[in-house]
Amino acid sequence: MCGIIGYVGSRECRDLLLEGLQRLEYRGYDSAGLSLVTNGAVGSVHAVGNLQNLRDALARSNGHLKGSTGIGHTRWATHGRVTEANAHPHWDTSERFHIVLNGIVENWTELRDRLKAQGAEFTSETDAEVVAHLIASHFDGDLVEAVRLAYNDLRGHYAFVAMSADEPDVLVGARKECPLVVGLGDGESFIASAIPAFMSETRNVQLVHDGEIVAVTPTGSRFISPDGTAIEREVDRVDWNDEQAEKGGYETFMLKEIHEQADAVAETIADRTARPDGVDLPELDDELLRDCRRIVIVACGTSYHAGLIGRYAIEEWARVPVEMDIASEYRYRNPIVGPGDLVIGITQSGETADTLAAMRLARERGAKVIAVTNIMGSQATRDADGVVYTRAGLEISVAATKTFVAQVAAIYLLGLKLAELRHALEPAELESLVNELKSIPHRIEMLLESCSDQVREIARQHHHREFFLYLGRHIGLPVCLEGALKLKEISYIPTEAYAAGEMKHGPIALLDSSRPVVCVATDMPVLDKVLSNISEVKARGSEVIAVATEGSGHVAATADQTIFIPRTDWILQPILAVIPLQLLAYNIAVYRGLNVDQPRNLAKTVTVE
Ligand code: AGP
Repeated sequence: MCGIIGYVGSRECRDLLLEGLQRLEYRGYDSAGLSLVTNGAVGSVHAVGNLQNLRDALARSNGHLKGSTGIGHTRWATHGRVTEANAHPHWDTSERFHIVLNGIVENWTELRDRLKAQGAEFTSETDAEVVAHLIASHFDGDLVEAVRLAYNDLRGHYAFVAMSADEPDVLVGARKECPLVVGLGDGESFIASAIPAFMSETRNVQLVHDGEIVAVTPTGSRFISPDGTAIEREVDRVDWNDEQAEKGGYETFMLKEIHEQADAVAETIADRTARPDGVDLPELDDELLRDCRRIVIVACGTSYHAGLIGRYAIEEWARVPVEMDIASEYRYRNPIVGPGDLVIGITQSGETADTLAAMRLARERGAKVIAVTNIMGSQATRDADGVVYTRAGLEISVAATKTFVAQVAAIYLLGLKLAELRHALEPAELESLVNELKSIPHRIEMLLESCSDQVREIARQHHHREFFLYLGRHIGLPVCLEGALKLKEISYIPTEAYAAGEMKHGPIALLDSSRPVVCVATDMPVLDKVLSNISEVKARGSEVIAVATEGSGHVAATADQTIFIPRTDWILQPILAVIPLQLLAYNIAVYRGLNVDQPRNLAKTVTVE
């Protein structure tokens, strides 16, 4: 998740672009850059690290870099290391076409080879650079047309903005799933990944919809479709205050991040599922995955719950035995681990002390270690033999949401890769699972659309309750554990999550009409058992709120309230089923008037033992 911004107008725009990047830094901050059109040419400055380094690099350019048309970028590396050469903007061989891109170009290697054969000289390791060369290869005097043709050659999940020395008064943007917005000022225009990037300059906004191309000039904008058809677009007036702007117009960071989950999953899987018949994890050595005899997953809190879902996926798809443990227990129980074992440490921050210690212990005893983390360069990346990055962007709210679904997506990728390398799945089944996984981002968006009001109403009815029981079985249990943790974390309500099969061995005594039961009853091999548990609970007078797969009339017939999630493969259901539970916890905390972004007694990263 990177941040992009562009300006075209009459003002000197270097500082305007830097201001905009400052407001987009939550999207990525490992390197940054600017390009500006100056006297018929385009100048550019890159810097590794945060924006201050870019400011210093610009200062060293002694003000040479200036202009009233420019583009800027703050990076969260996915393709290519964190270097100056890999920072954006990127340009073509003539250095006359510059682009900034957020997202991932899936077919970049084939495009790069084609363009190289036509004489293009590449200066970076990134996927994004192909866009600059592609536009140059299509340019015939009209930048908009060149971008349109390039857009039709590209595959992936991205948004980009292009600029050319030959047409200094126009910026051309294109959107394929990743966010892009236009800001219309008086004799000037902006284009960016998010409204806060230019909101201090104008509040007249036009949203760029998926699959659209837009040309912005100082006097306005022109929207077209990939086949060149003109598109009308209304101008909206944004009345957010600065705090709201930082939260992207949402009331809290947690709600903003819940709505960034489709993007977080799409970015995490994009290039890794470019092949329809398998998964690519070039950052890992295949042998490591093919030859390991056993997998051990260690993690804490929400990351532990992602690991639990991973255990079901890996054992079911790849038939590799998976041991799972809470890191703070694993590190002290003198575990049996060694050569031939693959230990996966899941940690969004990459700094959680117990998880790091568990990873180090396993490595000392001869196991190979992989880290699944969201933070580039974090300690976990240094304590591992391989790293699979989730790409959720910076998560500010203490309660993890988008990093959780990105972790589950990453562990699904690992499970499918293991299955592919071990020929544990029929090719057709593997292909269908990869396809289903690619549909998850869209399904998350549909689900947020379809269930938000219903969940808010359920929360209104139950926010005064003093205890909740979450019940689930099989792959539904980790979803319950995560839903219960979210409720505990931000509403402070005592909550228990339990394997439904265990209920009659004790917890059933907790039930009465004042204690609602949240039940994960999505399609899975033991759904009928879950249904009988719901009946058991109902018999004790408790109200049942169920999460079920769309079309599950029998669940809706048994539970008091049922929240439906889109249908997909049963092992992929948890990545969707958790979302209504995040929203339930969120809305209950809001109804109780609590600070959901900074709950009491909790820190975002637990670096202490
Ligand atoms: C989750 O909402 C919490 N913030 C907490 O349980 C968290 O998951 C845990 O501390 C692990 O953090 P990590 O993923 O950064 O290692």
